[in-house]
Amino acid sequence: TQYQFILTSRPADGVGQITLNRPKALNALSTPLFTELNAALKEFDEDESVRALVLTGSDRAFAAGADIKEMKDKQFSDVFKGKFLESWSLLSTIRKPIIAAVSGYALGGGCELALMCDIILASPTAVFGQPEINIGVIPGGGGTQRLAHAIGKSRTMELTLTGRNWTAKEAEQWGMVSRVVAEGEGEVVKEAVQVASVIASKSAIAVQAGKEAVNAAYEHTLNEGLRYERRLFHSLFATHDQKEGMSAFAEKRKPTWTHS
Ligand code: HXC
Repeated sequence: TQYQFILTSRPADGVGQITLNRPKALNALSTPLFTELNAALKEFDEDESVRALVLTGSDRAFAAGADIKEMKDKQFSDVFKGKFLESWSLLSTIRKPIIAAVSGYALGGGCELALMCDIILASPTAVFGQPEINIGVIPGGGGTQRLAHAIGKSRTMELTLTGRNWTAKEAEQWGMVSRVVAEGEGEVVKEAVQVASVIASKSAIAVQAGKEAVNAAYEHTLNEGLRYERRLFHSLFATHDQKEGMSAFAEKRKPTWTHS
């Protein structure tokens, strides 16, 4: 499919990539951009040959936030009746792992978009922030909740209420990103594709179960989460890939996954 505000590609076997591409507006997340992003996500999620996704922007900006110019004249009745931002949550329903490769600005909705992904890799140039307080609002794309889960209450309060940006290094120290990659243009995307390739080389059915189980840690109580994990683990014994994976180990050979 040809899109106007994003690019899609297949950088490696089993890997789908979505690149936000509204460079003049630093990838500000307008409604038309989100409509395209959601369409591309759905397309990749339904494509059996894709087993992991990479979401990225440009070197200068992952995304500088929701489109302020689009939002500024909206009334309460518009945003309430129109369920403004509700469509943003589609990303969190995708079954396949999504790796955010963040370079440059990831502000407001851009930071929230990264937080919706399953893994965040950051370039040393990445700048994160929830600056909504500076324009008279608060995060509305899950920022207060996902950030608090990721880095704790005190830091989330300070960052959300002062609107100060934070660095890739801070994000790494606080556990918000899994790591900061080496410097260099395109390096973070290369690294993300590498991680996605490794994931794509595993049993897709086990990967999906793993993603669901980890997410349960953020949605359930500990006991519910443990029970959920155990049940998912048990259910994998109904798959071909469990038989294949364990037989291959015993027979000292490489497994051939059928993703079933
Ligand atoms: C609309 C934006 C934008 C945004 C940048 N642009 N961010 N347009 N919405 N969020 C546009 C600018 O208006 C400008 O357009 C062009 O992109 C380049 O930006 P500059 O400001 O000229 O670049 P620079 O001086 O380098 O500053 C970069 C910046 C700054 C620090 C990132 O653009 C900035 O502060 N942007 C807004 C960041 C922000 O507040 N984000 C949170 C938004 S609220 P022209 O036409 O002038 O060239 C939000 C709510 C989320 O996300 C809630 C729901 C999810």
